[in-house]
Amino acid sequence: MKIDVIRKLPDHLDTLILMQEENAEVQAIEYLPAELLSPLEHFIKGEEFNFGYGKIKSFIHVSGKHKQNVILLGAGNKDLLTTDKLRNLFALSIRTAVKLCAKHIYLFPGFTSPVNDVAFGHVLTEAALLVTYRFDKYLSSPKITTCTESLHYVLNTKNTRHLNRGILEGRIYAEATILARDMVNEPANVLTPESLAEAAKRAALQHGFTIEIHNSDKLKRMKMDAFLAVGRGSVREPRLIIMRYNGNPDKKQELIALVGKGLTYDSGGYCIKTPQGMVNMKNDMGGAAAVIGAMCAISSMKMKVNVVAIVAACENMISGDAYRTGDILTSMSGKTIEVINTDAEGRLTLCDAIHYAIEKEHADKILDIATLTGAAVAALGTQFSAVVTNNEAWMEQLKAASAFTGELVWQLPAHDDYKELIKSEIADLKNVGGPLAGAITAGLFLREFVQDKPWLHIDIAGTALKEKESGINGFGATGVGVRLLTALVKSME
Ligand code: BES
Ligand code: MG
Ligand code: ZN
Repeated sequence: MKIDVIRKLPDHLDTLILMQEENAEVQAIEYLPAELLSPLEHFIKGEEFNFGYGKIKSFIHVSGKHKQNVILLGAGNKDLLTTDKLRNLFALSIRTAVKLCAKHIYLFPGFTSPVNDVAFGHVLTEAALLVTYRFDKYLSSPKITTCTESLHYVLNTKNTRHLNRGILEGRIYAEATILARDMVNEPANVLTPESLAEAAKRAALQHGFTIEIHNSDKLKRMKMDAFLAVGRGSVREPRLIIMRYNGNPDKKQELIALVGKGLTYDSGGYCIKTPQGMVNMKNDMGGAAAVIGAMCAISSMKMKVNVVAIVAACENMISGDAYRTGDILTSMSGKTIEVINTDAEGRLTLCDAIHYAIEKEHADKILDIATLTGAAVAALGTQFSAVVTNNEAWMEQLKAASAFTGELVWQLPAHDDYKELIKSEIADLKNVGGPLAGAITAGLFLREFVQDKPWLHIDIAGTALKEKESGINGFGATGVGVRLLTALVKSME
């Protein structure tokens, strides 16, 4: 979709989105095409529509040969608008336009934006590209086809430099998110550890970061036995995917590690899930998709940072050789782990990936992102991702990034008292802490492997997938984490 800034509305247009403040004088009248003035008049006078935040009304205006879609969009009190609120307004109105089969959309804001031009262009572009995304490659005849070709933002200004920069940035964020959505939506019979690694390789080539992929033999030599145990039940071999981006050659510059959970399928292993519990488990590589997507965006934006992204990709299945409950695994770090539940597999793959990031890549800071626990979904539902951290300052940076991208996060308490729950009688740790505080104990398990490094753990079990469209998300994968991680890393430049 083409997205640009134009100075005035054409006389005949296909689709108009008129965004207005609540209870405010409409200044737009003089700019509107003459043929739309009379059908819009009583709306503009506020007799029928009050332009409260998120209110929307659409109609089709026919005059002579011309048929025009008109969408009235309420912005509420403009001083209360944030980037996230704006993004959702754009998403709502563009979704409506697409349903009206809009080809060329003209967005006319009836007020001066309280959000700066870069951010405005950014969120507008994100909304347009993400709301029109669909995963319909397996449908013989797609239900809705998006016919929207262009979006023109109408603003009477000569200085479009900042807006255009925002549009460019928003496109990078959105396209990286779409890449992640595509990977997560792809079923596990297609997206295997091997093909996930191939997809990451294509992304690396396209976006200009480097990649290294290790197979089982190398993993055995590196003693990544916790990771290997999880993948052993599958005929599909695991892969360790290492992506590197060096945007700051200064040796003293810190190295940030982004570690993503990469279970291309999670059957639960011998602690097998119910059919209902298993149905969405192709999305158990949502963390991996998030870090791959973020690498694409970070690299495209040429950020002055050094980042390594690690994905321990495998499939949790059952077979004569699969790992069992009661097994004691020696992780790469040397710490031993008693397996209480083979369905708590994510932390076993992540603990080796984290240790690898510190010992082999010399990472200074660790962020992991994972569809890790049903407990995170029970605690926070599908709106917020759960966070566990050992570093409050970094958490504040994450919260600022989250406020910009609208990917909500909530910090869980990581008090040492919870550590009791993952102590084992016969090994250093056990992989499950019992039925209570599951999202916290999963986090604390990982904390045992980050040594003294600043660390953020983001549990996206509830936010990686949507069953219903809302905001910028449609049905299926959200690509959560891509924009959040990108914005966080950008704030660390
Ligand atoms: N991949 C699941 C977590 C999950 C649940 C993701 C629901 C998305 C939606 C994870 O591997 C898992 O199975 N966790 C178990 C842990 C338990 C056995 C301690 C869970 O949450 O039930
Ligand atoms: Mg599991
Ligand atoms: Zn899992």
